[in-house]
Amino acid sequence: MSTRSLAATLAAAVLAGCAATQGASGPAPEAPATRSQGAAPEGAVAMRGPDLGRLASAEEVAAWDISIGSEGTGLPPGSGTPAAGAVVYARHCQACHGDKGAGQPNDRLVGGHGTLAGPNPVRTIGSYWPYATTVFDYVRRAMPYPNPRTLSDADVYAVTAYLLYLNGIIAETDTMNAATLPAVKMPNRDNFTLVYPLAPR
Ligand code: HEC
Repeated sequence: MSTRSLAATLAAAVLAGCAATQGASGPAPEAPATRSQGAAPEGAVAMRGPDLGRLASAEEVAAWDISIGSEGTGLPPGSGTPAAGAVVYARHCQACHGDKGAGQPNDRLVGGHGTLAGPNPVRTIGSYWPYATTVFDYVRRAMPYPNPRTLSDADVYAVTAYLLYLNGIIAETDTMNAATLPAVKMPNRDNFTLVYPLAPR
């Protein structure tokens, strides 16, 4: 028996125990309707909910539930190549991130490789970020600033592929999709250490 089903069985047993005790010696259960019957006592506050809204529909939850796990959980269907991404980049990204991701006026997206251990580390998504899947997640949820969520998933795959290609991480002929993107190994992947190690050293 798994731990979870054992716990469920125990909980059920405890509940059954409570019911048995009440039935034998506890007070007769009051009918729930009694309280709201008749006129409310003077000064009583009406019993009602705090009006916190309504249940979100499955479609609404799905529209917000866009987090991609580092190992690729949640990646949507679709695919894109560096060539297609170059077109997306020129139209939606270049004005802020510069020609071929060189930066200016906003973050540089390409280069910095080999600088992290030196006195002037240049941290880009290529040199610093540990997972290619995070690039997809970030671009899809936050870019193009200030109109995120306006690109199709295929365009996000494509522009991610273009940025990985510009960083020398994938080949110009590679296609990024839900299977290939998690398999990309970022150069800085193994250089992170846990602040709170899981096991004592
Ligand atoms: C209007 C300007 C603007 C546009 C257009 C834009 N970005 Fe950005 N981008 C920013 C700013 C500003 C930041 C920094 C945001 C922050 O640090 O909170 C940023 C950050 C990023 C980062 C994270 C960089 C890092 O090292 O932390 C990535 C990746 C990125 N943008 C990709 C893109 C892509 C891809 C597009 C096109 C689809 C795009 N951006 C379009 C302004 C823009």
